Amino acid sequence: MHWSPLYIIQKVIPYLAPNDTIKVLDIGSGVGTFCLAGAFYKPSVAFFGVEQRKKLITHAETARKKLGIPNARFIHGNFTQLNLNEFDHFYFYNSFFENLNGAEKIDNEIVYSNELYNYYSIYLYNQLEKMPVGTRVATYCSWGDEIPPCYQLAETHFDNLLKLWIKL
Ligand SMILES: C[S@@+](CC[C@H](N)C(=O)[O-])C[C@H]1O[C@@H](n2cnc3c(N)ncnc32)[C@H](O)[C@@H]1O
Repeated sequence: MHWSPLYIIQKVIPYLAPNDTIKVLDIGSGVGTFCLAGAFYKPSVAFFGVEQRKKLITHAETARKKLGIPNARFIHGNFTQLNLNEFDHFYFYNSFFENLNGAEKIDNEIVYSNELYNYYSIYLYNQLEKMPVGTRVATYCSWGDEIPPCYQLAETHFDNLLKLWIKL
């Protein structure tokens, strides 16, 4: 439920990493599934994951070392602490959803609230709005609250669960 299936990642990678020297950020990287699979399929592309839960960063880093993958890096922290301009394209698996009342939670170790969902969604919306033309975003299981209207929906897959966006 909380980590991206491999078939979704396989569909996303050619879109977010169309050529070398690209930096892709997974906003809320969990146990690192997206970054590790992406880095495996595209060794010339740098995959970054930012994750607020330290224990998930530890799992991701353990897996990265066991797999011997050099082009994935995991950053412990809140995505609001990053400068998104340091990255080219973004992956987002509805990371803020667990804040909403009634949503399944990963654990009970952080504070959840509807206000946090709104705060993070608006924050990401504002950051994405400032990104250069051509910035690509892939959203999985998202309602699109965080996508500004300057992004065009380029493709949808899997009954609209996966949406591929590009900034115009
Ligand atoms: C649905 S999981 C997706 C994990 C991974 N992207 C994947 O596709 O397998 C969302 C993750 O986002 C993290 N997250 C939620 N809000 C965050 C924030 N503000 N900053 C950093 N990480 C966050 C959660 O802790 C959780 O691990």
